[in-house]
Amino acid sequence: MSKCKFWALKSGFNGQAKLSDFKLVEEKLPTSLKDGELVCQAIYLSVDPYMRLFTHLSKAGEPVAGEQIAKVINSKNAKYPVGTIIRLSCGWRSHTHVKDASTIDLMPELGDLPLSLTLGIMGMPGMTAYFTLLDVLKIQKGETLVVSGAAGAVGSLVGQIGKILGCTVIGFAGTDAKIKWLKELGFDHAFNYRTEDIGKSIEKVAPDGVHCYCDMVGGEISFKVMQHLREYGRMVVLGTISTYNKSGDVTGPYLFEDILKKSLTITGFIIFNIREKWHIGEKQMAEWIRQGKLKYKETITEGFEHMPEAFLGLFEGKNTGKAVVKA
Ligand SMILES: NC(=O)c1ccc[n+]([C@@H]2O[C@H](COP(=O)([O-])OP(=O)(O)OC[C@H]3O[C@@H](n4cnc5c(N)ncnc54)[C@H](OP(=O)(O)O)[C@@H]3O)[C@@H](O)[C@H]2O)c1
Repeated sequence: MSKCKFWALKSGFNGQAKLSDFKLVEEKLPTSLKDGELVCQAIYLSVDPYMRLFTHLSKAGEPVAGEQIAKVINSKNAKYPVGTIIRLSCGWRSHTHVKDASTIDLMPELGDLPLSLTLGIMGMPGMTAYFTLLDVLKIQKGETLVVSGAAGAVGSLVGQIGKILGCTVIGFAGTDAKIKWLKELGFDHAFNYRTEDIGKSIEKVAPDGVHCYCDMVGGEISFKVMQHLREYGRMVVLGTISTYNKSGDVTGPYLFEDILKKSLTITGFIIFNIREKWHIGEKQMAEWIRQGKLKYKETITEGFEHMPEAFLGLFEGKNTGKAVVKA
């Protein structure tokens, strides 16, 4: 293998992300390596909504930022001999020449669990769900929790962990098939936000309001849920996918008086800021999976050449659970 490919943005996103924003670039791989270097080949690549939001991470003409699981195929590094499976944030690349092995991320201890889970329940989305509930919201048994984007990679785990911790969980997602799946996962209540009134749905199942809101989507859905937070309610903003493709200002109801009168706490949280703690969450997630307490789904797209389609599908609700590309 002397050549590899990567996906780049032609000139950044402008409003709605589209296929024509991307281009496939060919690059040469080195014929010889220096001490400490290695070359790896992608096995699974992650597509995540943040790739649309954090546009500074993906400069035009360079690989789109992202994490992958790869196999070492050439090595001059004793720690990572040929055949080693590694996790690294090298972008949307078919092969990567790793010059600095300190950029390689620790793999979780998977045991017999599938490798692709490293990008989902055992990786970034799983850690987001785990630490959001335990560290940020510090959710308590008996509390009522609303989750938007509930059938997605993070949301489906937030709801299930909420159930493990003894909460009443209400989920919102965008298709009836997803709602059915959420009920199979043990969500107490699940509603299709496209066909049901969000406010009335919450009033029906939580007439006294909700203690916590885990927000994946922002915008109109979240303005409505926020109005049902009870006194001292807590909300964590994890993502605002409903607005990632919008240009211009997003407007909504004026909620400052509500925040004051109810003494609400609203916080943002980014999982990459606590990278050093992930091993704690990974251990617990693996245990819950093995105990049958946590279930997961993956939407796997076959073929590195289909990365842009897999990514754009996130904004059309095409995935259930974690969206992954098999190279
Ligand atoms: N803060 C952090 O550290 C962190 C970490 C991971 C993810 N996130 C954020 O959390 C959110 C979910 O991430 P994820 O990885 O779990 O993605 P995901 O849910 O697996 O995929 C996106 C889902 O969002 C829903 N969606 C898309 N457009 C929407 C819209 N306009 N309104 C409402 N729902 C919409 C779709 O489901 P429906 O069919 O239900 O519409 C889609 O399947 C994203 O906003 C992401 O940026 C944050």
